[in-house]
Amino acid sequence: MKLGRIAVTGIAAAVLAASAVSTALASASPRQGDTLRGLGARIGLRVGTAVNMDVLGSTGVDAPYTAITGSEFSTVTPENVMKWQLVEPTQGKYDWAAADKLVAFAEQHGQRVRGHTLVWHNQLPNWLTGGTFTNDQLRDLLHKHITDEVTHFRGKIWQWDVLNEAFNDDGTLRDTIWLDALGPGYIADVFRWAHAADPKALLFYNDYNIEGLGPKSDAVYAMVQQLQAEGVPIDGVGIQGHLDTQYPLPNNMTANVARFDALGLDTAFTEVDVRTFVPVTTQEVLAQSEDYTAMLQACLAARGCISFTVWGFTDKYSWVPGFFTGEGAACIYDENYQKKPEYDAVAQTLALAGGAPIRHRG
Ligand code: G3I
Repeated sequence: MKLGRIAVTGIAAAVLAASAVSTALASASPRQGDTLRGLGARIGLRVGTAVNMDVLGSTGVDAPYTAITGSEFSTVTPENVMKWQLVEPTQGKYDWAAADKLVAFAEQHGQRVRGHTLVWHNQLPNWLTGGTFTNDQLRDLLHKHITDEVTHFRGKIWQWDVLNEAFNDDGTLRDTIWLDALGPGYIADVFRWAHAADPKALLFYNDYNIEGLGPKSDAVYAMVQQLQAEGVPIDGVGIQGHLDTQYPLPNNMTANVARFDALGLDTAFTEVDVRTFVPVTTQEVLAQSEDYTAMLQACLAARGCISFTVWGFTDKYSWVPGFFTGEGAACIYDENYQKKPEYDAVAQTLALAGGAPIRHRG
């Protein structure tokens, strides 16, 4: 049975909490004309979105989509077009066109780019997954892929998601083509290869279900500590932030982000959205806003949390309905580009933090 979060905490408590902060909000509310990127800039935090390159273009398919992407955000992440399947659909023949277009858009709009993603078990080219290769050949192919892609974009990528989703939820290493062929040492290697190709890019490990304390985030924590001890060039941990109102809030997100921070690592919320069953109820909207706020607050509490990126800003193109039957409404804008309460929650949380000095290193 679906148990909305607000049903647990109580509507009365939510209303009381809202009224308790109303005075503070009145003095630190976003003003007309404020954007998320502007509110983030006041505290040194980049606010970003994943971008669907099928619909971005100055005279493109969807003009409002393009305009909001340019105005509301100070960092962009390609939702798909830097993944191996899309950049090398045929072995040895690269197609950088869509990714180059996003990088150019970002330059025109004063945005930084999160590169996503170099090493993953998903969205690999068919020639790779369907081919027959020895382990040594797979190692060479992965090395070449990382070297070629990072070199192509050298100097243009702020943060690279070097390795994506390498762990299972219980904290064991995920059984992937890369673990099978190369063994666990592949993790250190891929960071070294990326660093060699662009020494200035920030190199991230990125995963979901590591928002709070738990076995998976413990495993990531242990991994990054070990990488640091070995002198492997890793700069940050990307916390995806795909939440769902039918589940409790992750356990103590602030403490979790803080422990990565304490290792001297950057952190980033990289793929934030909050799905729910549709049609959405008022209670669920409150729960969604609460989740967006909680993730942003956990980021704001950490000195090294340098960006907060939503995984698409409009329900019009969200990945959620295609992957979770009956769920959706996960974004901060609706299908018609109207700002939702979730947008207001993010904007208000940024505005409330606006009095603080700049603490981020972005
Ligand atoms: O490229 C084909 C196109 O040729 C074809 O016509 C079309 C028909 O459905 O499919 C297209 O591929 C789709 C691709 O997105 C590009 O649109 C795939 O079917 C679809 O599965 C793929 O989904 C992406 C998904 O990653 C793949 O696992 C989502 O858009 C993307 O939002 C999602 O993003 C991931 C992050 O990279 C990593 N973290 C989780 C996150 C959500 O799953």
